[in-house]
Amino acid sequence: MWKLCELLLVWASFLAAEVSGADRHSRHDFPSDFVFGAGTSAYQVEGAAKEDGRTLSIFDTYAHSGITRGANGDVACDQYHQYKEDVQLMADTGLEAYRFSISWSRLIPNGRGPINPRGLQYYNNLINELISHGIEPHVTLHHFDLPQALEDEYGGWTSRKIKRDFAAYADVCFREFGNRVRHWTTFNEANIFVLMGYDYGFLPPQRCSPPFGVFNCQRGNSSTEPYLAAHNILLAHASASRLYRTKYQNTQKGYIGFNLLAFYFTPLTNTTEDIVATQRANDFYLGWFADPLMYGDYPEIMKKNVGSRLPSFNRIESRLVKGSTDFLAVNFYFAAKVKDSPWSLDIQLRDYNADIAVKLDFSLKNVTQFEYPVTPWALQGVLEYFKQKYGNPPMYIHESGQRMQRNSTLEDLPRVTCLQEYIGAVLDSLRNGSDTKGYFTWSFLDVFEVLDGYDSGYGLYYVDLDDPDRTRYPKLSAKWYSHFLKGGSVGPDSGSIIDITREYLTSVSPNEALIE
Ligand SMILES: *[C@@H]1O[C@H](CO)[C@@H](O)[C@H](O)[C@H]1NC(C)=O
Ligand SMILES: *[C@@H]1O[C@H](CO)[C@@H](O)[C@H](O)[C@H]1NC(C)=O
Ligand SMILES: *[C@@H]1O[C@H](CO)[C@@H](O)[C@H](O)[C@H]1NC(C)=O
Ligand SMILES: *[C@@H]1O[C@H](CO)[C@@H](O)[C@H](O)[C@H]1NC(C)=O
Ligand SMILES: *[C@@H]1O[C@H](CO)[C@@H](O)[C@H](O)[C@H]1NC(C)=O
Repeated sequence: MWKLCELLLVWASFLAAEVSGADRHSRHDFPSDFVFGAGTSAYQVEGAAKEDGRTLSIFDTYAHSGITRGANGDVACDQYHQYKEDVQLMADTGLEAYRFSISWSRLIPNGRGPINPRGLQYYNNLINELISHGIEPHVTLHHFDLPQALEDEYGGWTSRKIKRDFAAYADVCFREFGNRVRHWTTFNEANIFVLMGYDYGFLPPQRCSPPFGVFNCQRGNSSTEPYLAAHNILLAHASASRLYRTKYQNTQKGYIGFNLLAFYFTPLTNTTEDIVATQRANDFYLGWFADPLMYGDYPEIMKKNVGSRLPSFNRIESRLVKGSTDFLAVNFYFAAKVKDSPWSLDIQLRDYNADIAVKLDFSLKNVTQFEYPVTPWALQGVLEYFKQKYGNPPMYIHESGQRMQRNSTLEDLPRVTCLQEYIGAVLDSLRNGSDTKGYFTWSFLDVFEVLDGYDSGYGLYYVDLDDPDRTRYPKLSAKWYSHFLKGGSVGPDSGSIIDITREYLTSVSPNEALIE
């Protein structure tokens, strides 16, 4: 019973909290072609890592390096074997779309050459199952999981050779699945992938060089490789995009986009230096990719600070990259304040972190708290930034969600608050002219997490890892999202959280909601 008392307290504080998202609202306040969904990625959810002809990716190698405290995605949520049940769960929840990624090394083992028929069959099955339940597939081609064979053969994204192999892989996906998939994203969080993977060395492929890496990397060059990998990613994306547009788009009528992680930056103080530094942070984190995609070249400040270490586009490449997206997508979790830090430019051996010449202050994110702070104004700020800086392109929010201790509780009120507030913020942005087309929460299930392994969970559904069947259990947030997706009203004074919580608590046995 103590739990009920605790919940009453939480309700009270929730209702008392100042709500900055839109007022009471429902699904019907959004355009009918706006799409709501939830996401996962191949390595984080599929499992069956060594089954049916799949070969290793750099994500497997990373997960087996011990960095995620012994956890890995070998089995993960076993969606590879349970996709039918999962799609049924999506349909029951009311999801309109599912964002997932294709494992390149499952579809084309070793990265190039013949297609793996069982990999092809799996994605055909998953896509058909989604379509038959009226759920739109939104597909990402690269979610931190380059085939290890290509990493070993020529250094993966640091080599120009990757462009041809990526385009050939994309071609297979468009040809085989494009009659049913209308939303393609070439890269997930390209900015974070190159920064963490090639400068800090703590995401795949774990490359870095002293003194910059967080770990002692065996290979890499933190001064040059982040820029090189980013450049090749942009060229590979542009190649795939041109291919899609010339060969498929007319008949398949789909869209191709690119995904970045966005913080929302605000100056730490109102000094001119910090205000200029904030623009610089936006140029380095977002403009690095968004400027070439929208305008055909890197931001001037990057060319100035990075100098000859920043590759350049020739005229043909620039024309190829410019305009190569139909939409831009962001993953958003928290905001940061920016402080000018010009002395880092005096250091002779520099990396991205020195080139940007700012210090980021994440104090909004309470470090003693596992959960992320909920800052709807920041998500609105991100959407407003793209609207103003890039001429209001069509946007998707591909990830937005709440990190919690994975095994703590199914009564995830902080996640409910997060969803309600951010969805309200998106509605405010739409009403202020943003061309945002969809919102996906991360994640559908509690998946293998990039930094936390299985310590944290972001899912609407808990997955019992001790159970060989990997049984899924709905959290309170799944009930709340379902209520919203089916047209129920949410927001201040709607009473929906209280009603849903009460109903939820009576539907589970007292001990069931607390995970032991
Ligand atoms: C990284 O590349 C730069 C520029 O080519 C070079 O000066 C530096 O020595 C390289 N660092 C390492 C660790 O190889
Ligand atoms: C900066 O100025 C704006 C507008 O006057 C104000 O709202 C904001 O609080 C100030 N920020 C800081 C950090 O002083
Ligand atoms: C951070 O979180 C802890 C634990 O919830 C809380 O005690 C503390 O007051 C918070 N600090 C700030 C600055 O919000
Ligand atoms: C709404 O849009 C206008 C015009 O683009 C802009 O000036 C204003 O800052 C926006 N408001 C918010 C809250 O983003
Ligand atoms: C939940 O997981 C955390 C981190 O792995 C662990 O410290 C804690 O003891 C676990 N709690 C329960 C109730 O199993």
